[in-house]
Amino acid sequence: MNKNIKNIKRNINAISSETLNGENYSRNDFARSILNYPAMMVPSVQEPIIEKLSEALNNNVSLLDPFMGASNTLVTGMKYGMNVFGQDINPLSILLSQVKTTFYSIEELVDAEKRLISLTISDNSEIVEVAFVNIDKWFTKNIQIELSKIYRAIRSEQSLKIRKFFWVALAETIRLTSNDRTSTFKMHMRPIEEINSRQISALKTFLSVSKKNIKNISDYISVLVQNGHVENDKYIKNVDVVWGDTNAEIRTDKSFNLLVTSPPYGDNQTTVTYGQFSYLPLQWIPIEDIDKSITIDYLKTAQSIDNKSLGGEIKEHIKDVEYKVFEKSKTLKKFVSQFKEEERKRAEKVTRFINDLDSSIDKMLPKMEKDSFLVWTIGNRNVNKQIVQNDLILKELFAYKGVGLFTDLEREILSKRMPGRNNFSNMMSKEKIIIFKKTN
Ligand SMILES: C[S@@+](CC[C@H](N)C(=O)[O-])C[C@H]1O[C@@H](n2cnc3c(N)ncnc32)[C@H](O)[C@@H]1O
Repeated sequence: MNKNIKNIKRNINAISSETLNGENYSRNDFARSILNYPAMMVPSVQEPIIEKLSEALNNNVSLLDPFMGASNTLVTGMKYGMNVFGQDINPLSILLSQVKTTFYSIEELVDAEKRLISLTISDNSEIVEVAFVNIDKWFTKNIQIELSKIYRAIRSEQSLKIRKFFWVALAETIRLTSNDRTSTFKMHMRPIEEINSRQISALKTFLSVSKKNIKNISDYISVLVQNGHVENDKYIKNVDVVWGDTNAEIRTDKSFNLLVTSPPYGDNQTTVTYGQFSYLPLQWIPIEDIDKSITIDYLKTAQSIDNKSLGGEIKEHIKDVEYKVFEKSKTLKKFVSQFKEEERKRAEKVTRFINDLDSSIDKMLPKMEKDSFLVWTIGNRNVNKQIVQNDLILKELFAYKGVGLFTDLEREILSKRMPGRNNFSNMMSKEKIIIFKKTN
């Protein structure tokens, strides 16, 4: 290893635990709060690692996040002037990430906001614009009428980029005004007494969300401008935000020298239900305004996205999956083999998840250049009251592929948004940041 690389490793290992634990982070950091997407990475935690690896790569970086989520990794990469590429299976992640990586001028947003507000105020129609099973369970009639006014106003905007910005504000408004509890990511109705006594206006909520989002996006864009990464109202490097199933392919011909990601910790149904979280907002946002290439029927049921995500689908017989993946990870084999009957069935879900994770790594590695770095933030979890050592398993999967460990760090999860109480006990309070280096 050359001296420069040794120094980089030393500098990464010297990052303080306060920084890694996210103790200094601010809620408004990096436009991250325009929509409360589940399990967002804290930018200030990743930033020093990204910065030091950028140095190792002579500040000429093409960054890939194959599980992009709320795109905080891409946004951090853009602060350092990197080419960035993100992919996710959840259409709501795509919309949110498109907005967070686009250049907006504050004037165009404020003008559009004024137009939208005056349209919604003068709109006396009581027509409800969307229809889906159980709409009356999830939204009161008043909220449906108010959301429809906002919907019509956004649709009347000429510019797609402006519509996208306000669809995100509508998504957050839906999260806050539906009858679904905000305390869990799984859909769970509020008690009926609470629904009846809530004093809530979708129009007022939309107004305050829009104002906050305009401020957060403008603050972030001014950082990009200050850092010299914007010319002629455009980010100077490439940004790609792509809908896709990482277990099937990474949808680009480009190659990368840095991968930074935080994958799911297990199948969505038993860890974080990103899909259920997105189900109600996505009912109100036209697909053609997100991405026409989306091929999953994500509006069919509240489980559609989660079933298509890592570990969600039963594609092969469990014996065949075990045969393949146990050879790659002794830790997984040992974990699963201790269980019988019902417990074994639960453990099999872990096997399917790890198998999907493994095959998605096979889709990423050919896109990674020689001497590239891969940074994985992953936590362990409990299944059948035993620890699934995701960190060890991931290291074994990479070792099997001949990709060596560069270094690893541990952090305490203080501020990363965790699932609600039902799931909390299944997740650990620590996670690992594991850095691999691909040398061939
Ligand atoms: C922990 S989140 C990523 C958080 C992100 N790094 C951030 O900073 O916000 C994991 C993401 O993986 C996505 N995902 C799960 N299965 C996927 C698949 N098969 N293909 C692409 N994305 C997937 C989920 O939709 C979710 O957004």
